[in-house]
Amino acid sequence: MYRDLSAALAALLEGETDALGNLSNAAALVADALDRTNWCGFYLLRGDELVLGPFQGKTACVRIPLGKGVCGTAAERRETLVVPDVHAFPGHIACDAASRSEIVVPILAGGALVGVLDVDSPEPGRFDAEDRAGLEEVVKVLTPRIAWDRL
Ligand code: SME
Repeated sequence: MYRDLSAALAALLEGETDALGNLSNAAALVADALDRTNWCGFYLLRGDELVLGPFQGKTACVRIPLGKGVCGTAAERRETLVVPDVHAFPGHIACDAASRSEIVVPILAGGALVGVLDVDSPEPGRFDAEDRAGLEEVVKVLTPRIAWDRL
């Protein structure tokens, strides 16, 4: 599934560099491919905060300071976080009360943090090592195809 998703993403972004357009389509494609999820999207680094970017799902908090919540923690550590039970994660930021588990993959362009990909599920323990590897691959495909400096 993730192999197909990465290939579909590369095809979708082919020949287009507009950052907002590509991130919007990427959020839609990933959301559509992942069952048992309720939120999928991007937070983008602006100064020392993450700011809500293109997403699919219910309205979400606009600003997350680095180091806060699952997104801010993954961004600060520059490492993927898989959280099987968001209620057990200290400082978790509840946007959609239905969310029970979450995965956040940091996005690094040329070594610099530019944002994160965040996916939530209403099901506890929805994300495993396969999702981690698959979504890290998605981010790897996406990163060079976005003009991050023109967002
Ligand atoms: N739960 C996230 C906030 C973003 S929403 O899930 C869309 C967090 O704790 O960082």
